[in-house]
Amino acid sequence: MKMEEYTIRKAIGSDLDAIMEIETDSFTVNNDNFSKRELKYLIEKSKVGCFVLEMGGEVLAYTSLLARANASNLRIYSLAVHSKARGKKLGEALLKFGIQYAKENGFASATLEVKVNNKPAISLYQKNGFETFSIKENYYHDGSNAFCMRRMME
Ligand SMILES: CC(C)(COP(=O)(O)OP(=O)(O)OC[C@H]1O[C@@H](n2cnc3c(N)ncnc32)[C@H](O)[C@@H]1OP(=O)(O)O)[C@@H](O)C(=O)NCCC(=O)NCCS
Repeated sequence: MKMEEYTIRKAIGSDLDAIMEIETDSFTVNNDNFSKRELKYLIEKSKVGCFVLEMGGEVLAYTSLLARANASNLRIYSLAVHSKARGKKLGEALLKFGIQYAKENGFASATLEVKVNNKPAISLYQKNGFETFSIKENYYHDGSNAFCMRRMME
């Protein structure tokens, strides 16, 4: 069976509602979701920006990438796949896109935070070369801790 084609592209203002839906669908249950205002900033104003994965004309996943001026580290600030599209390697495709972006743009490393009980995400990150280097306590709204993970770019 042929896999349906997807494309990954830079998000623009008109993607806000689709990204908001993925964000709400993924994180609201724990109150960890970005507000529409925060997402608008991440799409339109943040350095690097957001990227969406689109399949069949529908935005199914997004990632937010951040970097400070002259920084050698790229921060993967958010990554989420709509629940109806999980388990099809779309999250992995977007993560690999972020890693490729870091390599192509001369970043020495990429980092991210992940909730310590988020097994699917931790597994995804480990599979793609990320290792835990510290723990941030009380990082999330429900009081749970975050693993800080890093991947060096060779
Ligand atoms: C985590 C998330 C992005 C994974 O996206 P996905 O498209 O469903 O995952 P993929 O199909 O690309 O899976 C790639 C790898 O991730 C891991 N993974 C994905 N789903 C998993 C699950 N339910 N249980 C365990 N590992 C899982 C596996 O390592 C998998 O590799 P494998 O298939 O070779 O075993 C997705 O579950 C999601 O959006 N979750 C809600 C938001 C979230 O938690 N984001 C991360 C915040 S830091």
